[in-house]
Amino acid sequence: MGMSSMLAGRTAVITGGVRGIGYAIAEKFASEGADLIVTSTRDPETSSAELEKLRSYGGRVTAVRVNVADKNEVEAVVTDAVDRMGGVDILVNNAGITRDGLLLRMSEKEWDDVISVDLKSSFNTIQAVLPFMLRQKSGSIINIASIVGVIGNPGQCNYAAAKAGLMGMSRSLAKEMGPKGIRTNCIAPGFIRTDMTAGMPERMVEEWKSRIALRRPGTPEDVAGVALFLASDMSSYVNGEVINCCGGM
Ligand code: NAI
Repeated sequence: MGMSSMLAGRTAVITGGVRGIGYAIAEKFASEGADLIVTSTRDPETSSAELEKLRSYGGRVTAVRVNVADKNEVEAVVTDAVDRMGGVDILVNNAGITRDGLLLRMSEKEWDDVISVDLKSSFNTIQAVLPFMLRQKSGSIINIASIVGVIGNPGQCNYAAAKAGLMGMSRSLAKEMGPKGIRTNCIAPGFIRTDMTAGMPERMVEEWKSRIALRRPGTPEDVAGVALFLASDMSSYVNGEVINCCGGM
């Protein structure tokens, strides 16, 4: 375990927790003493190096394969994993995809896939963890939205709709569950260097960068710092907020 242990004794579920932003959050939480349940779409075996690293911090790490868009699968897999870990204190809805294209020509499948994976998934996971959080009368739910859901982006109507939806859902859930001691907040990252943005044409990368006051893309670790704040007691009176993590766009 690290020198600091802001999350000692806490268990966190992190969707898409073996890659990109999700993995950086998992590592940050592990280094602060948390036990982890990380989900992935791949066989957990294929992420053995990442899992080994997460386990090196000394906490328990359970890896499960689940399609977060599938309600029944999430219900079964997440409930079982949480049961085995003995509860859950933190949920990070991080899994997400993009299927970019102008709305004029967007296929129904491109629309539906993004809404399912980026928005409905959170409904699925939240319904799975809430009974546990209600029992202990505490919990922190963190939804990874996007600055695109705040300001819009051509070619991402489906993604912007899903991410803006996530923010509206979070603000509402914060009001529903606040009285029960369960906090819900969003992080809206800006341009972060991961697999998701790796395929972007250089021209677009430069165009994004020119709009960032800090003049650099963000790192997954930049986002993980905000997630740690929202997961820990440091944010004990923060509920229903969206924190932009975009370098000042
Ligand atoms: P990534 O592509 O590296 O990671 C996405 C993760 O989601 C992967 O672990 C993948 O396995 C998982 N995932 C995808 N579909 C899934 C499904 N059906 N079921 C379960 N897991 C699934 O991308 P990145 O950048 O790490 O993205 C993480 C989150 O951050 C996403 O929600 C993304 O929308 C959001 N975000 C990313 C930004 C960026 O610039 N990279 C900016 C703003 C938000």
